[in-house]
Amino acid sequence: MIAALRGMKDIIEDAPKFLLILAACERAAKRAGFAFIETPHLEETALFRRSVGESSDIVGKEMYEFTDKSGDSVCLRPEGTAGAARAFVEKKFDRAGEKRKFYYDGAMFRHERPQKGRLRSFHQFGVESFGEKSVYEDANLILLAARIFDDLGIKHELKINSLGCEKCMADYREKLVKFLGGASGEICDDCLRRKDVNPIRALDCKNESCQKIYENAPLITDNLCEECDLDFAKLREILIANNMKFIIDKKLVRGLDYYNKTAFEFVSSEIGSQSAIAGGGRYDKLIETLGGKATFAVGFAIGIERIYDLVKTPEVDRDGIYIGALDSLAVSDIFAIANKLLDRQKVMIEYEPKKLATHLKNADKLNAKICAIIGEEERVKNEIWIKDLAEKTEYKKSVKEWLENVN
Ligand code: HAM
Repeated sequence: MIAALRGMKDIIEDAPKFLLILAACERAAKRAGFAFIETPHLEETALFRRSVGESSDIVGKEMYEFTDKSGDSVCLRPEGTAGAARAFVEKKFDRAGEKRKFYYDGAMFRHERPQKGRLRSFHQFGVESFGEKSVYEDANLILLAARIFDDLGIKHELKINSLGCEKCMADYREKLVKFLGGASGEICDDCLRRKDVNPIRALDCKNESCQKIYENAPLITDNLCEECDLDFAKLREILIANNMKFIIDKKLVRGLDYYNKTAFEFVSSEIGSQSAIAGGGRYDKLIETLGGKATFAVGFAIGIERIYDLVKTPEVDRDGIYIGALDSLAVSDIFAIANKLLDRQKVMIEYEPKKLATHLKNADKLNAKICAIIGEEERVKNEIWIKDLAEKTEYKKSVKEWLENVN
């Protein structure tokens, strides 16, 4: 038997939840003026190396990267921001100085160690806002994510931090490298690598002994330049004014290299160790890094599978018409009827003739509202037998009349 790959799942039983979550996300994003974007699942590997960054675990360890038949190095997208940013530049929206707001959903791929809430193929719903400098947009996105979670009945906690800008980061980086250098005998190999590539990412190390050492590390939030400090204060002020609770987590550095200034994560205390249900922040340098004209940007993504357990399976009302035949001669009649109904109704057709009781059982299992049956008696009289499974009524009607009135 060929099974799905480790860490990759079919969405079958969870389909109602998956669709419910997506619908809530899309509704909220559209209402907030975001437009749909779909980018390819496969991109040039260089895109993720340059954006997500060499110091991240994603690029360092987790990419589904291979050489395609043309000899090009390509990679299954580990996240959606890089593709959206690439598309923004490729369409020259940056040159035109346009503001664009996109939302997307789809599968992302990371070769991580699978565990509860951590898959190798998982789905994100994300939004990316390009061209907006105001810190109000950071707050706008945080409130959008919170609205989605509230709509889905999900309890959440918001953590925020500021990662500063190029200016304050340069000074801070020096301090941090010095600190990490002083501890180079004690920190892990990953952190030693991060020290040279992107030292701030060391603070995100999962290693407990490293974390112990970093309790005394200098933190970017305490080393912000005036503008970043003011922006971070303004963000907190806006969130408070809009009743959005948050905690400041000075060690929140996010797992991707492109962030600056605002960084945030939504966590849930009800789903175990993989508690991050959404993450995002500002990434004002990414468009330039990808060869575009400097463009402000901020976004976030929600992990769809992460929130399955926090969402109740929706109750679905009986819906649609199940149609079946009692003998083989009636099959062509039910097929023709189904075909006429399909432009206005959900129809589930059973080609195999069966006993009435079996059809009724099937219709019930499929959650149909109507079970419509034709046997020999109905066929010769041009009639159809109907059971309304919601109303618990049954009757016969001429096919013509029923077709005219069914809705
Ligand atoms: P991220 O924090 O890497 O950010 O992922 C966002 C969310 O995706 C996480 O909070 C988590 O819920 C979910 N997630 C991540 N990895 C897995 C996994 N292996 N299995 C299941 N769920 C997972 C980003 O990807 C950024 N692109 C977000 C962003 C958009 N920043 C700016 N714009």
